[in-house]
Amino acid sequence: MSTKVDVLLGLQWGDEGKGKIVDVLTPHYDVIARFQGGPNAGHTLEFNNIKHVLHTIPSGIFHPDKKNVVGNGVVIDPVIFKKEIDALEKMGVDVNKHLYISRKAHLILPTHCVLDGASEADKGKKKIGSTLKGIGPTYMDKTGRNGLRVGDLFADDFEEKYTQLKNKHKKILEQYDFEYDITEKEEAWYAGVEKLKTLNVIDSEHFLNAELRNGRNILAEGAQGSLLDIDFGSYPFVTSSNTIAAGACTGLGIAPNRIGEVIGIFKAYCTRVGSGPFPTELLDEVGERMRQEGHEFGATTGRPRRCGWLDIPALKYTIMINGVTQLIMTKADVLAIFDTIKVCTHYELDGEKIDYLPYDAALRDIKPIYKDMPGWKTDLTGLSREDEFPEALSAYIHYLENELVTPITIVSLGPDRTQTILRKAVTA
Ligand code: GDP
Ligand code: IMO
Ligand code: MG
Repeated sequence: MSTKVDVLLGLQWGDEGKGKIVDVLTPHYDVIARFQGGPNAGHTLEFNNIKHVLHTIPSGIFHPDKKNVVGNGVVIDPVIFKKEIDALEKMGVDVNKHLYISRKAHLILPTHCVLDGASEADKGKKKIGSTLKGIGPTYMDKTGRNGLRVGDLFADDFEEKYTQLKNKHKKILEQYDFEYDITEKEEAWYAGVEKLKTLNVIDSEHFLNAELRNGRNILAEGAQGSLLDIDFGSYPFVTSSNTIAAGACTGLGIAPNRIGEVIGIFKAYCTRVGSGPFPTELLDEVGERMRQEGHEFGATTGRPRRCGWLDIPALKYTIMINGVTQLIMTKADVLAIFDTIKVCTHYELDGEKIDYLPYDAALRDIKPIYKDMPGWKTDLTGLSREDEFPEALSAYIHYLENELVTPITIVSLGPDRTQTILRKAVTA
């Protein structure tokens, strides 16, 4: 019997709680696979008093009997990858046993990170707010057909290919007034490369399709969020990959008719790191309280996250683009501090009421139109069943399900694995 691939992805600007939920859902699957992005991602898992942040490695890695695949659509920085593996091994995780890496995944070179920094510095105030992990320049080399891939590490001419690409980058860097020194990073990079070569490097598209043929279940783990998608996000304030469900097909070699559930995660409010339009952003004390209460500081860069109320037009858009079949809401516990909770139902643009983000959102004065809802003012973090939910929380959930025409199957009420309420079955 052939099975399907479920896709779990963020519906906002990232950091929706994907890592936590993938870890919670892993027991239902045989394989967890990352399909895009790279170490710009920071996926936090908490269980048994352990807090751990993963960047490149799928969030199923703590379950000893599950396979974890880094797909062809991912970009890998050997320096960060080695650090991740070393940290996991220290915790007693037998990483090599169940971690598989696509031969076709592209490598982030030290000079890609320098190019990222130079490009951002050059943009000045118009910078994207990149994590500076070299993501943009690496995907540019991929689509420009200059990239280095994991499979190249085993070729006789690897050194030559590396030097050629590095020299190309050096030439580009001459056009910038940007000082850099990659000596140290390059040393760590080569050490990372040696580590990578000892891991299970595979043709992951064959591997994953064989798993499906053998009746195994796969969960594709998204990184970033749909509003950071290269095509459908708030361009140019986006990342450089397709973060939406379709990215799972190209990033894993899975045919579209093999996709099963599309599980969309959103926070009960919104956050964004980096620049770009954010209609419901709160620049006042309310936003600051949200940031403190929700510990909204980047898992990868430590930067404070911009905070704001939930944006329904944006969610409707990402649900449409992804074909979301079920929703997961996280961090409702954070909103317990507010008497009134606002939800953006529409925007106002030039005196007109609209329900979509315009093409040039970054340049327009978009005002959110809000609906007020009563707050629950109750600590939710210790609840274990839906029938314990305060009425105001149930009203919030039902309102959203109605507006979004999609069921909310899980409500997450804290960072720990156990703080997860299953409302409806997630898997068939
Ligand atoms: P990801 O990138 O989507 O995996 O999310 P991040 O790990 O970057 O950010 C989510 C943050 O919220 C992490 O610190 C999680 O531990 C935490 N978190 C996840 N779900 C919940 C929740 O329901 N409530 C609270 N309070 N924190 C949560
Ligand atoms: P996870 O998987 C939140 C943002 C950056 C910046 C823009 C481009 O943890 O949800 P890049 O480094 O890709 O060139 O940055 O995208 N960004 C994220 N924001 N969560 C992420 O990943 C992000 N990955 C990139 O802040 O605005
Ligand atoms: Mg994150």
